[in-house]
Amino acid sequence: MNTLRPIRALPGRDAVEIIDQRALPHRLVMETLASPQAVYTAIRDMWVRGAPLIGATAAYGVALQMSRDPSDAALEEGTAWLASARPTAVNLAWAIERMRARLRATPVVERAAVAWNEADAIADEDIAVNRAIGEHGLALVKAIAARKPGPVRVLTHCNAGWLATVGWGTATAPIYLAHQAGIELHVWVDETRPRNQGASLTAWELGQAGVPHAVVADNAGGHLMQHGQVDIVFVGCDRVTARGDVCNKIGTYLKALAAHDNGVPFYVAMPTSTLDRSLHDGLAEIPIEERSAREVTHLAGRDADGRIVEVQVVPDGTRAANPAFDVTPARLVTGLVTEHGVVPASAAGIASLPV
Ligand code: MRU
Repeated sequence: MNTLRPIRALPGRDAVEIIDQRALPHRLVMETLASPQAVYTAIRDMWVRGAPLIGATAAYGVALQMSRDPSDAALEEGTAWLASARPTAVNLAWAIERMRARLRATPVVERAAVAWNEADAIADEDIAVNRAIGEHGLALVKAIAARKPGPVRVLTHCNAGWLATVGWGTATAPIYLAHQAGIELHVWVDETRPRNQGASLTAWELGQAGVPHAVVADNAGGHLMQHGQVDIVFVGCDRVTARGDVCNKIGTYLKALAAHDNGVPFYVAMPTSTLDRSLHDGLAEIPIEERSAREVTHLAGRDADGRIVEVQVVPDGTRAANPAFDVTPARLVTGLVTEHGVVPASAAGIASLPV
């Protein structure tokens, strides 16, 4: 498990400390968020990112709001505003709704203390949930290791690691547990353009943990699968519908298509906080965030002198589109690895999960 927490409340309960993920992998920078406004900015501008971590951060944003003004009006306005920071990951709405429901039932004078406790509970539960996902995913990895020689070759997309959660990660939890159990692994890390969460965050995490891995260009996954180089795919998710359609980082759908065509099992690690039972048709109903064109037209990295620089990769004046997520239809998903076990990506599979 990660020893560093991507988010934690400071002892005075007047601020939270986060890892500013924009600086990784080149620098480990901690930032203090001391107001709901700072929390909103950190989520919108992706200082913190990843569905479960966005939810936990927003919960602390509500706590910061309650420390300032615990009135009904501040609760309603503050939660609605924080929920609008990013549209796609349902964990944001889930965590805020959990906070709102708890606080509405709490006398105004007690709201600040209860809010901090509830935000801590959301963060701590995330660690336990991901550990359980890891145990269920570990069984899948063990089954592959038992039937073939050499490393189990996992492909993953984006960063669904501990940086995207409070602990363990979702898609990475089976990887970390398998590594701890002494199972030989090799992880193919999709770079995940345009923001390169795979190249900068997942590769950093796996490197810290000593898990063998290689970063590949996003377009390499299909080729690797055609050549028998991938035994299993584990990805995370930002929202899963009641019939099992999976929304995740842009490019996930193409990996699922390639996996389907090549008979490679494609598993989605899904904490039930990422389930949106109110939606069915993921393609039609899930809001897809459109982010700045600059994320596509420019790249950031470290130069030979150690400075972080941004470079332009397109001709001057080129326009770009930047849909940040896509939807993988349930039929392409082998299974959903949840904290309650592995279930089919189907209406029946989802219905079997506790509400
Ligand atoms: O835009 P991001 O970096 O917040 O997107 C993150 C992803 O799509 C992750 O794969 C997903 O949130 C799962 S995190 C456990």
